[in-house]
Amino acid sequence: MRRSLSWLLHADARRPRPRHAAPRHGSFPTDDDGSAGRPQPNLAAFAPAAVAERIERAPSLDRAVRSLSDAAVRALPTGRRTDALHGVPFGQPAHPALVRLPLGCWTSAVLLDFFPSARRASTTLITAGLLTSLPSAATGLADWSALHRHQQRVGIVHAAWQLGAVSLFGMSLLARTAGWGTDGRVLAAAGVVAATAGAYLGGHLALRLGAGASHAEAVGHLADLGWHDLCRLRDLPDGHPVRRQLGYLSLLAVRHDETVSVLSDHCAHLGGPLHQGRVIAEKGESCVSCPWHGSTFRLSDGAVVHGPATARQPAFESRITGDGTVQVRPRLGAGARHEAA
Ligand code: FES
Repeated sequence: MRRSLSWLLHADARRPRPRHAAPRHGSFPTDDDGSAGRPQPNLAAFAPAAVAERIERAPSLDRAVRSLSDAAVRALPTGRRTDALHGVPFGQPAHPALVRLPLGCWTSAVLLDFFPSARRASTTLITAGLLTSLPSAATGLADWSALHRHQQRVGIVHAAWQLGAVSLFGMSLLARTAGWGTDGRVLAAAGVVAATAGAYLGGHLALRLGAGASHAEAVGHLADLGWHDLCRLRDLPDGHPVRRQLGYLSLLAVRHDETVSVLSDHCAHLGGPLHQGRVIAEKGESCVSCPWHGSTFRLSDGAVVHGPATARQPAFESRITGDGTVQVRPRLGAGARHEAA
């Protein structure tokens, strides 16, 4: 344990060092302040972001990641139940909304512990936090199972902290029930610390590594309004997804006879190449399935049919001109009007 903590805080300790390199943890002061020759701590290594980045690059976590990920994928086959866990019916991941319930309950419980008359309410809040942590964990596991390796490394440490918080609050509840109020309060305070550390890594996962955010949202806004030439209709194979460039934007084009469906080629989930996916029929509609994690989008408008993606895939309107040129223009949100024609 001590070794792994040292590894996280001082990753550079493992690198070979040149013979005349500067001291490892800071410089030796040259002025006569009494500290000459004593190594100074490298405080930057303690910064939360530095620790989180080190977790991203920690291959020692991969064995645990692989085992848990395989088990999660087996337990969560594509379907309505898994889609609900991802948050497909809500149009955004369900996990970030659900984690507020246990965190809110537990933080409130610890604050109420300062008021002796409110300790019963505190116990009720801890129980509510433990119960609401179950759906929070289930949605988190579903989302985590469809992330890339660096995200999964951070995610598994985030989950470990949250599991620690659940254990501490569980023990706090037992202690309170047994009449050991002081122990219960100390355990709850430790639980909030663990939950906050876990929440920081959850934020790193979502805001720095982009887990849960749409990776294609900008595409619909980057193309100018109005019609643009994309390609010749005769160059598109019938029923097969292909990639075409509109300036620097990569678009997916699927031809069916005389109509062409056009979506952003970068999957909204994590940017997978949709043109390498399969065109399939779902609920009587033509859809494309992402080759990376199986998100399925309706070709006509980019709506999500199956997760893990929860955000609509940016779609383009298309038309064929008299000389057989396929033209496209961004399809704005429902009810939006194009100013240009
Ligand atoms: S990148 Fe994950 S489903 Fe497309």
